[in-house]
Amino acid sequence: MRLEGKVAVITGGASGMGLASAMRFLVEGAQVVIADYNSVTGEAALKDAAAAGFGESVSFIRTDVAREEDVVAMLEHAVGRFGRLDIVFNNAGVGGAIGPVTETSVADWDYTFDVLAKGVFLGIKHSARIMREQKSGGSIINTASIAGLSGDGGPLVYSAAKAAVINLSMSAAVELAPDLIRVNTICPGFIATPLAESGDPEGTRVHFAKAQPWPDYGQGEHIAGAALYFASDDSLFVTGEKLVVDGGLMAAGPKLSEVFPRTSARNAKVSGVTKGSTGAANEIRRL
Ligand SMILES: NC(=O)c1ccc[n+]([C@@H]2O[C@H](COP(=O)([O-])OP(=O)(O)OC[C@H]3O[C@@H](n4cnc5c(N)ncnc54)[C@H](O)[C@@H]3O)[C@@H](O)[C@H]2O)c1
Repeated sequence: MRLEGKVAVITGGASGMGLASAMRFLVEGAQVVIADYNSVTGEAALKDAAAAGFGESVSFIRTDVAREEDVVAMLEHAVGRFGRLDIVFNNAGVGGAIGPVTETSVADWDYTFDVLAKGVFLGIKHSARIMREQKSGGSIINTASIAGLSGDGGPLVYSAAKAAVINLSMSAAVELAPDLIRVNTICPGFIATPLAESGDPEGTRVHFAKAQPWPDYGQGEHIAGAALYFASDDSLFVTGEKLVVDGGLMAAGPKLSEVFPRTSARNAKVSGVTKGSTGAANEIRRL
């Protein structure tokens, strides 16, 4: 088991990829604190984990990651219950503000940044203090998004907040490296969770199937696998990294093959070599 003896806190652990990660970490031998704003789903997650035989290794604490006192209490709870802190997965999130930039209120901007960016900042700040005192290193994992890597990957404020998470992780990784505390980021693409499907699972999946090269939908378990890598000693020399887990969505990029179908391997009607403006003849054969 890859997380034997380790204590992990997972925010947003009551649903979606946080819940999948909590279950995976438990299976891998960790003791896990599920922290979530939603105490109904939090208690349900606790029951499910207990039913799977992990009752002694799991705990739930209702937490608003945007409130500093809640984040402190969450981490103190982990140390109080399980004796130490090794892994913190700052994963809680909401879609936040939507709509045109010209119509976005400051209150909606603030709410979005409070949950997505300030929540991660607070998670890093307070877990690093505890890990530093323990003097045995640690792993902090943050959930950003492919929305933070481009201009059309999500709502405007959400994307800006996720970009902030990516840089925050790199900067914190540099600062905390001397203490052997790693800070890494996961950038999910479309993952079939309550957040992404927003009440229209079929519509959302059909939409993503058009853009995503990989034919299956992303699942919480795919993110749990990435989180496990960052949480475990397998990534001991990896810090400040961002791992895109998106079924090839970012790799597909601007889809210029749709603009220049003749040169695309996916439209394989021709093969050969083109020689640009050299004056030399192209060598093209029909397939
Ligand atoms: N699902 C996707 O396609 C996708 C893609 C990219 C990034 N993400 C990010 O992944 C993370 C997890 O999202 P998910 O898709 O599993 O969604 P989800 O809605 O299934 O889970 C998110 C959890 O976060 C909790 N939460 C929200 N605000 C909170 C707060 N202030 N304090 C504590 N908990 C809070 C929710 O109650 C929920 O349980 C989020 O940060 C999200 O932005 C999701």
